[in-house]
Amino acid sequence: MMLVNKIRVKESRLKKDQCDLARFGREENGGLMRPALSAVDREARRWFKDRMREAGLHVREDEAANLIGRLNPTQGPSDEPCVATGSHIDAVPHGGKFDGALGICAGLEVIRAIQESGIPIPCPIELLVFTDEEGGHFAGTFGSRAMFNLLSEGEIHRSKSDGQPSLAEDLRRAGKDPKLISQAVRSPAEFRAFLELHIEQGPLLDTMGVPVGIVEGIVGIDRYFIQVKGRPGHAGTIPMHLRDDALVKAARIITAVNDALLAAGSDIVGTIGEMKVYPGAFNIIPGIVDMYLDLRSRNESARLSMRNILQKIIDSVENARIELILSKPGVTMNPTIMQAIMESCEEQGTPFQRIFSGAGHDAMTFATLGIPTGMIFIPCLEGKSHCPEEDIHFEDAAVGTQILADTMMRIAASSL
Ligand code: GLV
Ligand code: MN
Ligand code: MN
Repeated sequence: MMLVNKIRVKESRLKKDQCDLARFGREENGGLMRPALSAVDREARRWFKDRMREAGLHVREDEAANLIGRLNPTQGPSDEPCVATGSHIDAVPHGGKFDGALGICAGLEVIRAIQESGIPIPCPIELLVFTDEEGGHFAGTFGSRAMFNLLSEGEIHRSKSDGQPSLAEDLRRAGKDPKLISQAVRSPAEFRAFLELHIEQGPLLDTMGVPVGIVEGIVGIDRYFIQVKGRPGHAGTIPMHLRDDALVKAARIITAVNDALLAAGSDIVGTIGEMKVYPGAFNIIPGIVDMYLDLRSRNESARLSMRNILQKIIDSVENARIELILSKPGVTMNPTIMQAIMESCEEQGTPFQRIFSGAGHDAMTFATLGIPTGMIFIPCLEGKSHCPEEDIHFEDAAVGTQILADTMMRIAASSL
């Protein structure tokens, strides 16, 4: 117990890191534009890598551009399985500055607090910064899936739309060789546990005024590509009854999917939030529409049974097709890790609430592989996330980071 108590994270340092990191990609309205592997993302990573080194981590970058910082025990073997924490540095378009970024800044502060405490760590500790969690290039959680050989065939060569670089192209720009991507693969046995701190991205903790959420599980997520083809032509000369407008057909699909989800009567949610219209001019009848559907539910059978319904909707529209590009099963967090987080909260007198995550995280990848995994949520104001208004109270972030530090040390000292 003494071991845990001596580690003290500092809110001022955490806040400074978070604010410094938020300069990379900052927008006028307070939002953030930091797509994975963009020039500004690469700058942010260089900055963060320097901070990791300053904190005493041995830092390397794998072929998927994940940053891996390691602290080896001063005594004893350094090839024992590690206790790891981490999150992502990329952001959704015009998103907020805490999603992902807070988790890596919290991990960095934990490392500093451990170093300052002088307490010898019983096993290696790692801080991981994952590439393209948000799916800017393909379907998300790229870095963690690359780390465990879970990429789908050819995904690094796919481009989301005309003119948008594939992961392979952007990895090359970041100095990586996409042909060597398999060198990023590690064995789950290298990890004793993985913990991720994240903002809740929903309103529950903020509404309840509780600073820490102990995550019980994460929803399953299916991501689909839908393509609708029509006949392009002149917007002024072709009468309405002779048109085959791809966007009009896409609109029918969107409405039908929405109706089917409403009728499903479970917790299932679905969003078509990304669409490209080709050729894409006001005076051309749309010839092709490409769009992405994101489908989530805690209930595995609700998510799976939507597959047939979706296929029927697509089959009812001429020249439309649907492709499931990634399916991430829902996961539950490890009970021993949840217990360790709870004990850390109790020891600090920190109120907590068990909570389920409707957002996806790299922690899913670890949990899927059977690596003992846990997540700590902190409130975000009014539950706003994936938007420029995303905000937090730094006191909550410091409390959550303290719980992260205590839990990591608790697990490191345990026989898990
Ligand atoms: C990531 O934020 C996701 O839930 O898609
Ligand atoms: Mn996100
Ligand atoms: Mn995130």
